[in-house]
Amino acid sequence: MSSLTQSSAWLALQAHQSALSQQHLRALFQNDPQRFEKFSLSFNDILIDFAKQPITRETIDLLLALAHQQQLPSWITRMFSGEKINSTEHRAALHIALRGEQPIEVDGVAIMPEIKRVLKQMERFSIAVQSGARRGYTEKIFTDIVNIGIGGSDLGPVMVTEALKPYQLNGITPHFVSNIDGSQLTETLRHLDPATTLFVIASKTFTTQETLTNANSARQWFLTHGGSEQDIALHFVAVSTNRSAVEKFGINPDNMFEFWDWVGGRYSLWSAIGLPIALAVGMDNFYSLLAGAHEMDQHFATTPFAENLPVMLGLIGIWQINFFGTSAHAVLPYDQSMHRFPAYLQQLEMESNGKRITRDGEVVDYATGSVVWGEPGTNGQHAFYQLLHQGTQTVPADFLAPCQSHYPLAQHHRMLLANFFAQTEALMAGKNEQEVRAELASQRLNDASLEQLLPHKIFPGNRPTTSILFKKLDPKTLGALIALYEHKVFVQSVIWNINPFDQWGVELGKQLAGKILTELEQDTTVASHDASTNGLINYFKANQ
Ligand code: F6P
Repeated sequence: MSSLTQSSAWLALQAHQSALSQQHLRALFQNDPQRFEKFSLSFNDILIDFAKQPITRETIDLLLALAHQQQLPSWITRMFSGEKINSTEHRAALHIALRGEQPIEVDGVAIMPEIKRVLKQMERFSIAVQSGARRGYTEKIFTDIVNIGIGGSDLGPVMVTEALKPYQLNGITPHFVSNIDGSQLTETLRHLDPATTLFVIASKTFTTQETLTNANSARQWFLTHGGSEQDIALHFVAVSTNRSAVEKFGINPDNMFEFWDWVGGRYSLWSAIGLPIALAVGMDNFYSLLAGAHEMDQHFATTPFAENLPVMLGLIGIWQINFFGTSAHAVLPYDQSMHRFPAYLQQLEMESNGKRITRDGEVVDYATGSVVWGEPGTNGQHAFYQLLHQGTQTVPADFLAPCQSHYPLAQHHRMLLANFFAQTEALMAGKNEQEVRAELASQRLNDASLEQLLPHKIFPGNRPTTSILFKKLDPKTLGALIALYEHKVFVQSVIWNINPFDQWGVELGKQLAGKILTELEQDTTVASHDASTNGLINYFKANQ
């Protein structure tokens, strides 16, 4: 048994859960009409309502005691001061510096001047591309940007450029290629003109197989469709921490945008990895994105925990995962432009907190990160909400929506939000037997039909949701929302005593794929694996 699950704060929460779980969420609302006032928090343009979570004041007090027991205040200070809290990689985790102002040192070197230098480089470059001062090899202006990267070198920029589509500048279309599956690159390049296409090769390590393979194929396409070796310098730029690998690939270091090992891949959109964002929406909007995140950083670092949005979001997640035993978490944006937000959070949360070993090297005896997934509303309502309402598992969900739409089309936005409010209400309250009986009776069903339909029409309710409303999805608010979730993940990692900044779990598959690729290139039958893997490989070889 770990000290965490034996600790007084943990045991008190367990006892509290046994008592509180006897009460339906509907009863909590009936007993206390002030739940919204008591359990909603706001910061700038963001409102978070936790009232539809199974919590009382006592829950919050006990969760805060757990946070203090796990030394959350000192961990926040350690992260913000640049301490090497990524202990397995001996690195600081300083994404907050990328959007900050305060001087910070890493290994005795002041990093703020470096951050500002690269931001200025991004600014000059994006203005030059947008204004046409920097052009392609035929002197035509660039019309298309193809970002080649994967994981954190893809998901953040894709998610943000999609979410900020209303801010996209005319004349430049961003494209993203991540998958090693040749279809993505082929389909992207099919309609593009090499003379007007700029490639951004984005890889922290510059060793990632998918990215380098796609980058090589893109270069080949460029050379076979009109570009020459000398023109590569005009059409290919790199974003990386690995200067020598960038040079080896054939990109002039003058065309490289640097970042640093203290920026984790899934925390990197604030660095030069955000270059496609700046190219698509302009550097001013990129600065606003940083400013929004910085304001959330300040809120996180200085606000008492009971009013602290990321702290409370993280602790409510702990309450669900560790005390109610939930293992999935749905992210449901009621905003089509946020359609990649769930995928972005999937990497942020699952790669950070999908761990079973503590900072001290012990196997945990408690649950850690949930399975995160989701789709925009209302689409999800016509797909998987059936399970959310009437399935056997409880899946806590975050509902997110802007109050104002960028697309004021007739009644669409009101209808969208009506669905948001209806779904969270339905999940909380459900529809009990008595209500269903009355409804069916009013439809004049005969007794036999009524009894047959009755159990199918009951909604148990008591399904927890957190609602996040914000005024408008502008760059600043989006920056704040992303930082909110980054810090939520950090809060949970501190409670679980795990390192959220490494990702050793991605290594084994990569190693094995390297070995298997060699086997796929040979004509011989493969027998070096288990029977299933041998069988599958040999079937593929016979049928490729
Ligand atoms: O394989 C996982 C991972 O290392 C992620 O953490 C990272 O975001 C992604 O691969 C891409 O890595 P890189 O930017 O080094 O190409």
